Amino acid sequence: MPIPEKTRKRLLLAVLIIVPTISILLLWQGRAGAPNWTFIGNDQPAEEATPPPTGFNKQLYSIDDPASLWFIVNKQRPMPASYAPADLRQPALQVRSNGSTELFLRDAAATAVEQMTAAAAKQGINLMLVSGYRSYGLRQAVYGGNVAREGQAAADLTSARPGHSEHQTGLAADLGSTNRLCELETCFGQTPEGRWLAAHAHEHGFVLRYPNNKQAIVGYTYEPWHMRYVGPELAAEINKTGQTL
Ligand code: DAL
Ligand code: ZN
Repeated sequence: MPIPEKTRKRLLLAVLIIVPTISILLLWQGRAGAPNWTFIGNDQPAEEATPPPTGFNKQLYSIDDPASLWFIVNKQRPMPASYAPADLRQPALQVRSNGSTELFLRDAAATAVEQMTAAAAKQGINLMLVSGYRSYGLRQAVYGGNVAREGQAAADLTSARPGHSEHQTGLAADLGSTNRLCELETCFGQTPEGRWLAAHAHEHGFVLRYPNNKQAIVGYTYEPWHMRYVGPELAAEINKTGQTL
């Protein structure tokens, strides 16, 4: 039986209304259930922001200012002849020779060496200060004497030229055993005092500046007695990484 004209029109109208309505509803539902991502290239979810770095801060102190704890002076990096630290004092510990002009350190280094030698003494390790701050003028005399005695090439392996010595910063301390065994000699590294320093100096902000087998990097032969104060942060980092200053 043919569908009456009126019914056909009603059916058509219903289809025209119902189909778009259902389509819109389905679309809306799909969007609501979609994951809450931002897509960037290649259909990958955007990465979370990188958290700020923690731990060692390489920018903490200057390496260019002679008065900075992290100042780097070596064969390539001189310091001004006129530089002398403003806060030198003699630390309260045993010294090699009373009245020597080489028994001063900058205040922070002096405090640290006092604490370090006290900690060592509690473990039966007896340390003394052999030599600390040396002026540019004194270095001229020492280096000149070494060159006269052994020639410049040999002198340059063990002795810094004027303006190139850490001792002018007031942050370097040559330490020895109170019994004076192996004083300023490489065998100091094998003494109980030398071993203790190699293991514990970093806990007090010092680093062994001229380690064994690092001559190609640091420019000088092994000096197990030469301690450089750099503060606890850098000393810990150098100890952890095995790098040199
Ligand atoms: N012996 C070290 C390198 C100095 O002369 O400073
Ligand atoms: Zn030294």
